[in-house]
Amino acid sequence: MVNNIQIAIDGPAGAGKSTIAKIAAEKLGFTYIDTGAMYRALTLKALKENIDLSSEAQVTALLEESSIELKPSQQGQLVFLDGVDVSQEIRSNEVTNNVSKVAAHAAMRAIMVELQYAMAAKGGVIMDGRDIGTAVLPKAELKIFMSATVDERARRRYEDNKQRGINSSYEALKEEIALRDKMDSEREASPLVQATDAVFVDTTELNIEQAADEILKLASERMA
Ligand code: DC
Repeated sequence: MVNNIQIAIDGPAGAGKSTIAKIAAEKLGFTYIDTGAMYRALTLKALKENIDLSSEAQVTALLEESSIELKPSQQGQLVFLDGVDVSQEIRSNEVTNNVSKVAAHAAMRAIMVELQYAMAAKGGVIMDGRDIGTAVLPKAELKIFMSATVDERARRRYEDNKQRGINSSYEALKEEIALRDKMDSEREASPLVQATDAVFVDTTELNIEQAADEILKLASERMA
């Protein structure tokens, strides 16, 4: 039994990656690492400092002079930017709607990939993002590409917002998700694509427990 494998989960926004990965990680006693949070933290800083988000040089220099740390806690993963907890702030609409622009720069991504690789090197991790199976952990024992229809992903985001007391338009959410998919999939630097050796998991018709069970089943096969 090999119990320190690396599990890479990639897929578009709203596929359920983080919720499902968190549950599976807890059951396996693995560390869950949400790499999107790192791109979000950098985007937050870039917005605050009025950096030109389309400038690869400026965005990369900003990352070089920043400290972005992920720390596991009782409430889940916390995100620290230059020593300050920004776990809530990085979920704002402003960050969500600008993060794809920041995430498009290859030189900046090369640094992120190194940071993320170092975090997962020892194994016993579930890491989620867009390029984990293709760029960060190309040797991961288990790679999953998780998706769901745009309609279903927009519906989940809508329900999520409602629960948090945020009024939103379903149609606007659908457009935002489709635009982010397009930007993440069509960018030149590490676009969102399914790794050739990844298992496709469609969560459109699955609830959270069913999807987590699917991951656990695949993980136990790889650990055997
Ligand atoms: O998973 P998320 O929605 O928090 O990710 C935010 C953005 O970060 C997403 O639109 C694309 C980018 N991202 C990326 O390019 N590579 C990753 N490994 C993770 C996220």
